[in-house]
Amino acid sequence: PSSLPVFSQEEVAKHASLEAGVWVTYRGSVYDITEFVAMHPGGDKILLAAGGALEPFWALYAVHSQDHVLDILSEYKVGQL
Ligand code: HEM
Repeated sequence: PSSLPVFSQEEVAKHASLEAGVWVTYRGSVYDITEFVAMHPGGDKILLAAGGALEPFWALYAVHSQDHVLDILSEYKVGQL
């Protein structure tokens, strides 16, 4: 078990802009991806998921179903749901 903090969905939802910070959730973990937004190969589309779950978007954009994408995501983990 991780010692990272637990966040509510409501708290995550408050982080939905570059100003407030961009947080997303994936499989029960919370990620602060603010610094990654400018590096995203898919551009500003990443902001559609800001403050919520990645799953519905990654289901549409299967390019994310690769280990190297999950490796990137894991660098930004800040907590759990
Ligand atoms: C491509 C990461 C969220 C849309 C990519 C690629 C990476 C990446 C590494 C390149 C994959 C490759 O070509 O091997 C991420 C991460 C995300 C995220 C870490 C969340 C933290 C999103 C979201 C959307 C999205 C929410 C759409 C709403 C796209 C699209 C591409 C892409 C359209 C293809 C870009 C192209 O090749 O022209 N993403 N992504 N991504 N992503 Fe994301």
